[in-house]
Parts: sequence; C-alpha cells; structure tokens
Amino acid sequence: MALREIVKDGDKALTKICRPVEKFDAKLASILDDMADTLKKANGVGLAAPQIGLLRRICIVNVGDDDGVIELINPEIIEQSGNQTGAEGCLSFPDQYGIVSRPMYVTVKAQDRNGNEFTKKGEGLKARAFCHEIDHLNGVVFKERAERMLSPDEVEEL
Ligand code: CO
Repeated sequence: MALREIVKDGDKALTKICRPVEKFDAKLASILDDMADTLKKANGVGLAAPQIGLLRRICIVNVGDDDGVIELINPEIIEQSGNQTGAEGCLSFPDQYGIVSRPMYVTVKAQDRNGNEFTKKGEGLKARAFCHEIDHLNGVVFKERAERMLSPDEVEEL
C-alpha cells in the first residue's frame, strides 16, 4: 500500500484514451490498493488510473456510503436516465469547480479485481462520480463538460 502522486491540469495522461485491463493479477490488486489509499488521503469521491499516470481502464468511487470503495475495471455505462445539474470538481484540478449536467441514474457494468463481471447502480452523487471517472478513461475531463466554471466567490460558498 502506497500513496501515488495525482497528476494535475496540463498533464498529457489526462487527455489519453486508456487501454483495457487484460491481466487480473497481483499488480492490478496493488494498483487498486494504492488508488484507494490515494483517494482517501485526498478526501475525494473518485479516482481514475490516468490521474496517477496509468493509462488503463481502472477507476474507483467512494461516496461514503455502505458500498465503501467501488472498484471498476473496464467499466461501461449500460443504462442512464434522468438529469442532475450541479457543481463538480476533480482531484486533478484543485480549487476548480464547474456546473456539469449528468444523468441522475446510471447502471455500470464492470469487472472486479478478480475479473468477475458485475453491474452497479448509482443515483445522484454516485451516478455523477461513475460518469466523471469513466470520462477520465476516455481522456475527457469535467471542464470540457461544464456549462461554466464557478468564480472564486462561488467556490467559497460551496
Ligand atoms: Co476527476
């Protein structure tokens, strides 16, 4: 278990399309453990592998509910409905927030660290986090989805 450095705005890793994971081995487990440590330390809701410089289709989400850390390998959104519009940020863009519209309900299909396929539903913040993290795997960051960015005064009010 170790902390990884989170890459920031301007890093090329944030613009790349990540490759699928094919080997479900000890190295993958160690990456996932490190990502969980890194997310916890950063007090975030989600983290994608490109944010630690790894161009692989791996992300984790933790909205602080009973699910704890949800590990998503090769995730895909298979259903979505509804809409939510609100402030969104990213650990790679400290102190920056934008107004982003996302589906209110999302179902994700993914594999776990052993390669077993599962589906997971998310509502509200969890749906937003699934969309945000899966976007990272396609080289898309929230600023590209934002209707507008918040001013420093608005960020203070958050
Ligand atoms: Co992000």
